Amino acid sequence: MLSENIRLLVIHGPNLNMLGRREPAIYGSATLDDINQRIKEAAAQRGLQVDCLQSNLEGEIVSAIQQAHPSYHGIIINAAAYTHYSIAIRDALASVPLPAIEIHLSNIYKREEFRHHSVISSVVAGQICGFGGDGYLLALEAMVRLLEQEKPKP
Ligand code: DQA
Repeated sequence: MLSENIRLLVIHGPNLNMLGRREPAIYGSATLDDINQRIKEAAAQRGLQVDCLQSNLEGEIVSAIQQAHPSYHGIIINAAAYTHYSIAIRDALASVPLPAIEIHLSNIYKREEFRHHSVISSVVAGQICGFGGDGYLLALEAMVRLLEQEKPKP
């Protein structure tokens, strides 16, 4: 697929609307608007179309994933705390024929034990964590490579 045809959905989960004010020693001082701005700029440079959404509600995230097909070609998701226990989000990701990339600002493996397990990792193409807001840009790059390598459907 040519990158100018690629449409991606970026989903930010609960409490990520608090970035900038929320535990800056862990999550940094950039706000979610700052991060979305960087995502949009990087996408524009690559000719990609990207929509970003944030929700504190599990059901809204599930619905957004379900509705992402066929409008989008891939999903980049920071499910935040839901990462560690939301089977509903895991099942939604498994139910759509779209590649997904899991991202976390912090390195979840260096933190509390309950953050070491992701219930969504087994249904995504890969995970990027520990690089702060840059992780979203790395995920954009990884997603483009993934989609460009996809064989056209017969
Ligand atoms: C997070 C890590 C999660 O453990 C945490 O609950 C978050 C943010 C991250 O981006 O580092 O809310 O997903």
